[in-house]
Amino acid sequence: MPNEGSFDAAERRSDEIKQDLPLHPENYVMLSGDRPTGRLHLGHYFGTLAERVRMQDMGIRTNILIADYQVITDRDTTDNISDNVFNMVVDYLSIGIDPKRTMIYAHSAVPAENQLMLPFLSLVTEAELQRNPTVKAEMEASGHALTGLLLTYPVHQACDILFCKGNIVPCGRDQLPHIELTRTIARRFNERYGKVFPDVWGVLTSSQMLPGLDGRKMSKSYGNAISLSMTPDETAKRIKKSKTDSDRHISYDPEGRPGVSALLTTAAVCTGRDPIDIADEIGDGGSGALKSYVTDCVNDFLEPIRTKRETYLADPSYVHDVLAEGNARANEIAEGTLDEVRHAMGMDY
Ligand code: TRP
Repeated sequence: MPNEGSFDAAERRSDEIKQDLPLHPENYVMLSGDRPTGRLHLGHYFGTLAERVRMQDMGIRTNILIADYQVITDRDTTDNISDNVFNMVVDYLSIGIDPKRTMIYAHSAVPAENQLMLPFLSLVTEAELQRNPTVKAEMEASGHALTGLLLTYPVHQACDILFCKGNIVPCGRDQLPHIELTRTIARRFNERYGKVFPDVWGVLTSSQMLPGLDGRKMSKSYGNAISLSMTPDETAKRIKKSKTDSDRHISYDPEGRPGVSALLTTAAVCTGRDPIDIADEIGDGGSGALKSYVTDCVNDFLEPIRTKRETYLADPSYVHDVLAEGNARANEIAEGTLDEVRHAMGMDY
């Protein structure tokens, strides 16, 4: 784990940047991304997606990466990948990402970006990679042996961020070691070969992460997630099946009552209300009343997103064009950066 000192420093820097963003949006290039392993869900939305839209709307240069190569860091299949990528673009567009202002691209489509991996790998040691806590956690969760790609994916993530000279990455605490490694790689490159890359900082998203319906991390694989693409009916069923407890009096107690509290938090983030007020209002209504309230809140919240999803699903060629144009722009940018890198390294022949 990073020591508290370094987390504090990262948090302070993140707060400074948050204050400066609206004042000097022109100084920032944001890069953020997701693995196309399934559908985006409410945890993603309240974790980083909403923040990306806010940054886009502030006039910051925003870039969104579909991290398709990262799908195979800890699994041995690319099943459904093209459907997942397509739906991811649909989700981005439906929550308010505007492809005129935000570049959406897939890293497998940008060879020059991937080529940065070679010089970057020379700038880190095996020991630095081995002690990354997120890599360790992902390896344990996968039940697989540590693959070369899983060990080195934080370096690949540095390529994702640095090819477009990104300097801010909205992220949760778990991504901080990756951002720190990216910053280290950029600095070492600049020291060795001359300045090409910016300093990169994580902008921490609200610490109150939306849990899954059972109180654990929201994840498709736990079956505790509400995807942005679910119908009102599917949403109602999933909430109805979620596990609560037999105490009819509803109270907010994340430790003691994870299921009930996760439901309260879900309703709270969808409405902007306080979970304790919601609990008081439901009082002795029991989990039936709680679930029906949460279902209404989630369905009201998702309604405009669902309507937009329908529009984009009816026009798949538009969705494909958005990605193709993003990929084309990403290639131009990556080739420019790779030229600078070769030049800095004296490799112009
Ligand atoms: N690793 C991120 C995830 O699993 C996705 C990702 C890949 C990313 N490259 C990135 C996020 C660069 C931020 C910046 O969700």
